[in-house]
Amino acid sequence: MLKIENLNVHYGKIHALNDVSIEVPDKSVITIVGSNGAGKSTLLRSVAGLVKLSGGRITFDGKSIEQLPPHKRVKAGIVLTPEGRRVFPKMTVRENIALGAFTRSKSELQGVEETAFSMFPRLKDRYNQLAGTLSGGEQQMLAIARSMASKPKLLLLDEPSMGLAPNMVDVVESAINYIRDQGVSILIVEQNIFMAFDVSDFGYVIQTGNIVLSGKSCELANVEMVKKAYLGEIKE
Ligand SMILES: Nc1ncnc2c1ncn2[C@@H]1O[C@H](COP(=O)(O)OP(=O)(O)OP(=O)(O)O)[C@@H](O)[C@H]1O
Ligand SMILES: [Mg+2]
Repeated sequence: MLKIENLNVHYGKIHALNDVSIEVPDKSVITIVGSNGAGKSTLLRSVAGLVKLSGGRITFDGKSIEQLPPHKRVKAGIVLTPEGRRVFPKMTVRENIALGAFTRSKSELQGVEETAFSMFPRLKDRYNQLAGTLSGGEQQMLAIARSMASKPKLLLLDEPSMGLAPNMVDVVESAINYIRDQGVSILIVEQNIFMAFDVSDFGYVIQTGNIVLSGKSCELANVEMVKKAYLGEIKE
């Protein structure tokens, strides 16, 4: 479904992504784990069209998308839930969800709220509450629900577990499984390697802009191996 080949991104002199190649097959959950500043957000933002590439190819559903502006990528089915659970604080839960659906036709709107509430029943109780007054965990739920309202084919999740209590991480993990069951592919970047490998089929480890390790998630979850990558012991 998504194929990234030899992607390079520079911010001035910083080489944020160096020849990164990854694939997200149809109906799969793929993860990229890495520590602070490794290039995880840059990679997702590149797929969403928010970063200028200095080289490489991105193919989605068999078509090259490097030239597509961000809103056309959303229309094509690529939706990003950015880092830091951004919601519109002065708008209600309901209005936030409706905003996610703005690129879709009226007929497509049906079921959007039901999907949100079956994923996160707690949001239903907070339907008319201002998003800014939700707890951190609830705001993450809302951010994901809003992305789902855009009816993605491919959902890009930027550190959905960041800053959440363990029980909230479990809620997010269940939501990811629910979304996968809807036939949506997911590319998730995380520092929480346990959560990431638990929910995904295949994973990559990124270190200062380079993919240093990849494999089936159940194998990568072999902590020793990944710890090595984290401690920088794996050289290119
Ligand atoms: N707009 C920007 N201008 C200049 N440098 C940037 C910009 N965005 C990111 N960088 C740099 O690029 C590198 C990768 O950043 P990125 O945000 O992709 O990392 P990350 O893996 O998402 O980190 P984190 O886990 O902290 O979110 C970092 O060194 C960062 O300082
Ligand atoms: Mg980031």
